[in-house]
Amino acid sequence: MRSARAVAHTNIALVKYWGKRPPAPGLPDLNLPAVGSLSLTLDRLRSETTVGPSDHDLFTLNEGPGPADAAAKVFRHLDRVWQAAGHAAARPPCRVASVNHLPTAAGLASSASGFAALTLAAAAAFAWDPGRAALSALARRGSGSAARSLWGGFVRLERGSQPDGSDCRAYPLHPASHWDVRLLIAHTAKGPKPVGSTDGMQRCRETSPYYGPWVETSEADLAAAEAALAARDLASLGEIVEHSCFKMHACMMATRPPLVYWNGTTLEAIRAVWQARAEGLVGYVTSDAGPHVKVLCPSDQADALAERLRAVPGVQAVEAVAPGPDPHVEVLP
Ligand code: DP6
Repeated sequence: MRSARAVAHTNIALVKYWGKRPPAPGLPDLNLPAVGSLSLTLDRLRSETTVGPSDHDLFTLNEGPGPADAAAKVFRHLDRVWQAAGHAAARPPCRVASVNHLPTAAGLASSASGFAALTLAAAAAFAWDPGRAALSALARRGSGSAARSLWGGFVRLERGSQPDGSDCRAYPLHPASHWDVRLLIAHTAKGPKPVGSTDGMQRCRETSPYYGPWVETSEADLAAAEAALAARDLASLGEIVEHSCFKMHACMMATRPPLVYWNGTTLEAIRAVWQARAEGLVGYVTSDAGPHVKVLCPSDQADALAERLRAVPGVQAVEAVAPGPDPHVEVLP
């Protein structure tokens, strides 16, 4: 094997992925989503991961020792890539160094860019190039949202229906240049989220009475969002973005025990965006499995909306991010 480095950008779902299909009997857990999703890859917010040979498995995160649970996931994923590359023998020991240029595990999708970069760097280190579609399906096994970070711009992850997951992969809809939009990210708390996405999704499937309707209505949202995106119709897209977000959070809140990812500031920030909209500004909110608020808006509205968000008590920082590029991979000397 050789050393390779990959940079992959994170993404934010405009139509959300939430929920997994139960693993089919006799098959490994392929992390198959219950619904498709549609995302925007983000500029600047990215993971840089280097995979190289070593005399023992070693994982560093942000230049320090990686937490044991994250290391276990990383090396399990390397095993998958190694096996997918057609090797029957045991994987050679690897050194994995990952640096996240974004807050880790706080509802800002570090697993998306992290597993995308890991998949790309590992495949290049193992001198294996099955194409981005196959790597997207492999990244999905590490984290569902990671499948979408294999492309820049606007991306769709297909739910698929095959039990082996062969038709469950992402594909690019439009490059970053398609639309001059911004995503504002209003940080409303520090620290990791209390319940991870994987556990939260399972609680929803098992206990939320709204889980069935959530799954059943998602394809219609995807179709409508894709049409609005192609037409650059922000009013139509924004309405679906908000609907998908609130439908997902309603499903979460109706679990037993309830799953509430928001804090008081989250709601106040959402209200501030709605108030700004009532006064003529253009922006639409979304939020993931965490308390932060994200706002999709035209680039010329970003400053005014950011100012509104910064005025909300409890909002700690607001950044504006443009649509981001494709990942980048290089083999190191
Ligand atoms: C709310 O991709 O983190 O951000 O597949 O279990 O790793 P796993 O989940 P993950 O879930 C993302 C959920 C979400 C919505 C989205 O990104 O589509």
